[in-house]
Amino acid sequence: MKRSNSEFFIGDVPVKLLAETYGTPVYVYDEQKIRENYRRAFKAFSKHYPDFRFFYAVKACNNPAIASILKQEGAGVDAASVNEILLAKKIGLGGENVMFSGNFLSDDDIKSGLESGVIFNLDDISILPRVLKFGKPEIMSFRVNPGYGKSNVGEFVTNAGPNAKFGVHPDDVLKAYRMAKEAGIKRFGAHMMPGSCITDADYFPFITGLLMDIIGKTGKELGINFEFIDLGGGLGIPYKPGEESLDLDAAAEKAAGVFKAKVAEYGLKPPRLMMEPARYFVGNAGYIIGRVHSIKNSYKKIVGTDIGMSTLARPAMYGSYHHIYVEGKEDEKREKLGLCGQLCENTDFWVKERELPASITEGDLIIVENAGAYGYAMSYQYNGRLRPAEVLVNGQSHYLIRKRELFEDMIKNTDLPDYLKK
Ligand SMILES: Cc1ncc(COP(=O)(O)O)c(C=O)c1O
Repeated sequence: MKRSNSEFFIGDVPVKLLAETYGTPVYVYDEQKIRENYRRAFKAFSKHYPDFRFFYAVKACNNPAIASILKQEGAGVDAASVNEILLAKKIGLGGENVMFSGNFLSDDDIKSGLESGVIFNLDDISILPRVLKFGKPEIMSFRVNPGYGKSNVGEFVTNAGPNAKFGVHPDDVLKAYRMAKEAGIKRFGAHMMPGSCITDADYFPFITGLLMDIIGKTGKELGINFEFIDLGGGLGIPYKPGEESLDLDAAAEKAAGVFKAKVAEYGLKPPRLMMEPARYFVGNAGYIIGRVHSIKNSYKKIVGTDIGMSTLARPAMYGSYHHIYVEGKEDEKREKLGLCGQLCENTDFWVKERELPASITEGDLIIVENAGAYGYAMSYQYNGRLRPAEVLVNGQSHYLIRKRELFEDMIKNTDLPDYLKK
């Protein structure tokens, strides 16, 4: 986001114009920033390991326009569900350009996953016999839980380690691949998802080493040539002003160094190195523009906006911090204020106390930063506060990429039994 005098711009489009054109609250994504993020990350890893590919974890921001930008850059899709496989298909990606990393799959999930011919990434050894009931994936991996996890988002988002619900226990990995091999599966990869929003560069080589020891031993023992090894997502971004960024070049260089050394140590045929980040590509490229509707002076002074926890769930869900700017007022004297949305829940009071411009008033525009990942994708319709519009900015151009929901959307799948119609 740029600032000229006291006016904010996303790409080259004034925030005021976006709010007037599309209304508030509205999610806005900066295409150039997504492309820059992708290219920086791709260069960092492919420089040290040329057989490298990213799969975009579409769960973070599932608008087809955003996924298409990343597809144009060269990414495949990491899908968490059958509907995300269908989303990938809609933007022209299928087969081995899609990785299906669902967990606790139903039989229907398994059947659809097999039919789609995507890479099947199994979250547990117990799923394999259920998959084999319906068919054999052409290529599959197991999601390994290497025993450690890390997160800057909080305990809830630590998606590896002993407290996580994900992945195969290290002690079961050999058995899992042996079962798959004995069942006649021929092509394999390996996967982990070692954490969330990690800004410590040294964590990546550490966790890569853990995975590679597990996979190296398995490959050696079973004579498997892994075609790919996927180090997951978790590349972090800073959310708070002053917070350290991830030293991506160091993370990539060190992780690729450990990867190559372990490939050599276990005598593996060099596999493709893959990662499936999301936050790093889209997190800081997304904003929410909202409006102040009323200000209340009660026990505290509270600024009431149209951005509630149904628009942006992260603060209420994880206690996450998102920086807020007030259009036209950033240089003014500040005071400690609270800020909330319009929902009938006290967790909707999502900024309890923050230094904000003291002159903030009804009608002002606020801009929430770093809302591109796990923002719109986690929004919902509570209290009849419907999901906002999504807009893509490319330089001076802007496009509506998802309409604001209407009342008709809220009730479209409901029905009234005849006896209730009277
Ligand atoms: C399996 C898997 N891969 C990739 C990601 C993307 O993670 P991030 O946005 O931290 O890069 C997630 C996010 O939870 C995930 O569950």
